[in-house]
Amino acid sequence: MRPETLAIRTQTKRTAQKEHATPLFLTSSFVYDTAEDMAAAFADDSLDVNIYSRFSNPSVDEFVKKVCLLEGAEDGIATATGMAAVSACFMTFLSAGDHVISASAIFGSTHTIITKYLPKWGIEYSYFDMNTPEVIESLIKPNTKLLYVETPSNPGLDIIDLELVSAICKQHNIIFVVDNCFATPAVQQPIKFGADLVLHSATKFMDGQGRVLGGVVAGKKELIKQLYLFIRSFGPSMSPFNAWILSKSLETLFVRMEKHAANALYIAQKLEGHPALSWVKYPFLTSHPRFDVAQKQMQNGGGILTFELKSGVEGGRKFLNNLTWLSMTNNLGDSRTIASHPASTTHSKLTEEERSAVGITSGLIRLSVGLEHPDDILEEILSALSK
Ligand SMILES: Cc1ncc(COP(=O)(O)O)c(C=O)c1O
Repeated sequence: MRPETLAIRTQTKRTAQKEHATPLFLTSSFVYDTAEDMAAAFADDSLDVNIYSRFSNPSVDEFVKKVCLLEGAEDGIATATGMAAVSACFMTFLSAGDHVISASAIFGSTHTIITKYLPKWGIEYSYFDMNTPEVIESLIKPNTKLLYVETPSNPGLDIIDLELVSAICKQHNIIFVVDNCFATPAVQQPIKFGADLVLHSATKFMDGQGRVLGGVVAGKKELIKQLYLFIRSFGPSMSPFNAWILSKSLETLFVRMEKHAANALYIAQKLEGHPALSWVKYPFLTSHPRFDVAQKQMQNGGGILTFELKSGVEGGRKFLNNLTWLSMTNNLGDSRTIASHPASTTHSKLTEEERSAVGITSGLIRLSVGLEHPDDILEEILSALSK
């Protein structure tokens, strides 16, 4: 079966109730027929048996199985949030004395973990600019364990050549981790280009309607096994209810991502050249500095675009205040179009230099383009720009 069909038809084995839609296994623990079965379940980690929903749960397993099929991964594990997926990767594979290399253009909380927490635990880091991947080799040290990128990055929409980075990682025996949250597996499959692990904030496009939090990591079986042992002990597991929502959401992922991308491309093209804007950025605009790489590794440009208001921080605030129905919130990947202005909100505590070092300029507006009619979205933006 093709991925579009697998996203819909992958389902937990039908129960005796003969349900059509997938059932929700809202249970904390599972029962055994005999004391011997129970003892065996606890004695052998490799037994495929449910014990407790912090360890495994059929609703969670169904969601993970779908993600693995879509990403082309051997195995996977779900987490309570996207940040639980990110932090579990760092905590499972890094020890005191290790070194991690990361793109500097990454989600704010990931940046906080790398710069504030990893050094506290004796783990050093080096950042590189995604636009100069040729420097990566020079940053590698004998203790470099893991390399981390987001592509496209949040919020700068920088793109890196996954094939190029994975070749470097393979040569130096470094675990290559890709945050694929902006693209989703309906648009980009990093494992095909050599990533060892792919992770997501399932809170975003995977849910697609801004309802539940979730995260997932997919990739090599031997690495997922280590993540599983970490997560089952430390406890950032996915709730079965959230997994049920997310698994149902994956049924519509492909059609949603196609429409998000068609709407986003249309709006990006219409906004390019607007007199109030210095630039418009979208992976599938020919003006994107890595348009060629985006074409190679993405099936469409995804649902996020950014633009820079000539009027800076004050202009960003004004633009948000001029919106009438478009949502002003920090989430993304929703059926509803969302505008955010990082310089006056999520990144307001950073200096202008610190912001520009991570690709956030003063007038940057991030637009998570929803599924409304594209002309309604465009008219709302044009109207806010003209006021
Ligand atoms: C690229 C990226 N990675 C990770 C996360 C963290 O996900 P969560 O909010 O589900 O913890 C986010 C959240 O916005 C994100 O945009």
